[in-house]
Amino acid sequence: MPRIPQEKIDEVRNSVDIVDVVGEYLELTKKGREYVALCPFHDDHNPSMAVVPQKQIFYCPVCHEGGDAIAFVQKHLKLSYPQAIQEVARMGGVDMSGYDVRPQAEHVDESLAPYYKMYERAQKIYEVLLKSQSGTVARDYLHDRGFDDELVQTFGIGYAPLENVLYRAFEKDGYTQAQMVDAALVMEGRDHRDRYQDRIMFPLWDERGRVVAFSGRIYRTGQGGGKYVNSPETPVFKKHRMLYNYHNAGRPSREEGFVYICEGFMDVIAMHRAGHDNVIALMGTALTKDHIDMIRRLSRKVVLCLDGDDPGRAAALKACDALVNANFGVRLVLLPEGHDPDEILNSEGKEGLDRHLNDRLTPFDFMITHLTGRLNMNNYDDRAKLFDEGVQAISRMKDEKERDVAITSLAALTKFSREMITSKINAPSQNVRPWTSAEGPVMTQIRRTERALNRYQISERCLLYYMLQDKRVAEKYKVEVGRMYDDTYRVLASYIVDYYRSHEGVVDVAALSSAIKAGGGSEETTDKLVNTLMGITNMDLPAYSDKEKAAVDDYIKVIKDNARQLDIRRLEKSYRNAENPGTKAAIASQILALKKEAKL
Ligand code: GTP
Ligand code: MN
Repeated sequence: MPRIPQEKIDEVRNSVDIVDVVGEYLELTKKGREYVALCPFHDDHNPSMAVVPQKQIFYCPVCHEGGDAIAFVQKHLKLSYPQAIQEVARMGGVDMSGYDVRPQAEHVDESLAPYYKMYERAQKIYEVLLKSQSGTVARDYLHDRGFDDELVQTFGIGYAPLENVLYRAFEKDGYTQAQMVDAALVMEGRDHRDRYQDRIMFPLWDERGRVVAFSGRIYRTGQGGGKYVNSPETPVFKKHRMLYNYHNAGRPSREEGFVYICEGFMDVIAMHRAGHDNVIALMGTALTKDHIDMIRRLSRKVVLCLDGDDPGRAAALKACDALVNANFGVRLVLLPEGHDPDEILNSEGKEGLDRHLNDRLTPFDFMITHLTGRLNMNNYDDRAKLFDEGVQAISRMKDEKERDVAITSLAALTKFSREMITSKINAPSQNVRPWTSAEGPVMTQIRRTERALNRYQISERCLLYYMLQDKRVAEKYKVEVGRMYDDTYRVLASYIVDYYRSHEGVVDVAALSSAIKAGGGSEETTDKLVNTLMGITNMDLPAYSDKEKAAVDDYIKVIKDNARQLDIRRLEKSYRNAENPGTKAAIASQILALKKEAKL
């Protein structure tokens, strides 16, 4: 199948509006002619990312990510470039049949391939065994818990019998025992023991839906070992990145506008039975920084759905804090003590579960409920303590409505006045950077970037800006300058010159950025080029006119002067290193010529 040609890529990009594309994943707010959103590519607390409809680009001046709609989808969903094109084509209704959209030869660590293959094979083997004679009792257990065949199939559930089935299969496939041990599927030792014996096997997937681990559950009374045995970490299974059902939760979470986070994978399965697929589960561990970064790609809104028992609450409080600090919209569902969604579904049915799921606390309500349970509200000192804690929590709140409700309930609980609470609440957190109204966040940040650049780089940036606006400036650059001090700028300049060979008018930045991507080079290099391009595009300079012509001449002069100085320095060095008197004389005359030119 043919690779996707540039014209097709242009068609795909032109089939959508970047505002709609980004808007599908992020909450956009209009700010002048731009839209802004919380940047998903860094830990953003103010909406830093700008989406510029006129130019069909996005750009974050803080982390410097930027590009066109395809680049956004690629980065946000962590897709390969062809996959991102396909995804945007789907949104724009462009037919991609007949094109090769397989992932590009991305960097894959070949040494990991056997792990994926072994896990895939193990999962298939267990699946078959669950349906076999030896799986009868396990099947009955699942049936009693409400698992029908479809559910078993959907979640890839299987059965590991009391035999070394994996060892035998892998041996036939040609794996060594060392490989099986490294994959944590077979134990060390001469008896070639499979790690999992006589358990119901739940596959665990990585972010991309590959089986990378198992959780094995006991299913009859009197069975030894823990209720669940989870795979230990391997090169393909990292617990701090494990979120059950993550690979399936993307689309449903975007459709629903939030994601449920449950405690265990049985809850995810129960929620699925009740018709909720925007659900992931922590595997009985605390929420990590990696988890938060992953969840950010699903949604900015989460509903923590936790057991109302004490450890459940303590864990919820921590997770809640971490999520609030990472700027998520957080709500909590506290289930009756000792009950998880699975049990509630079985005892109260779907309607019962939904009723619980719709009772959502704000983090503030939750904290207050948690604290008041431990304090005596008839005791003044306890009430004062609650007051202090509450004021601190309210100070951190960003949503005005939530804040107001919180003040009212804190006043009611502590018997302090609303006025007293309001006066104690600090000014909104210091890291909220006010925008100067005339310019968007992008411009403010670019001003800041520019201050850190040297004179030459500023001239080069400005020249590039006008090269993007007018073909004549690009021509002038080609004829009179031809190089830049900054490597990235130099490459960009040559892309622009190239662009005008086949295009007229102002440069279409989105098209240019995709030409850069298609132009080859490592992802790091092309990313840097595109991001720099976005920064330059968003500079706030006057449009090209006769008046700006003089400015362009100045930029060119500065750049040429600098190039000359660099040449002189380079020549002086070779002069010092040269030994042959003839060579020395030749270099000296070159230096003199350049110095003379510089004085003109
Ligand atoms: P069921 O008892 O089968 O309904 O599962 P559950 O999801 O209700 O389990 P529970 O609420 O007790 O635990 C939640 C999560 O903690 C599970 O999904 C597991 O990941 C983890 N967990 C629970 N028990 C064990 C155990 O014995 N060993 C390990 N490693 N993890 C466990
Ligand atoms: Mn349970």
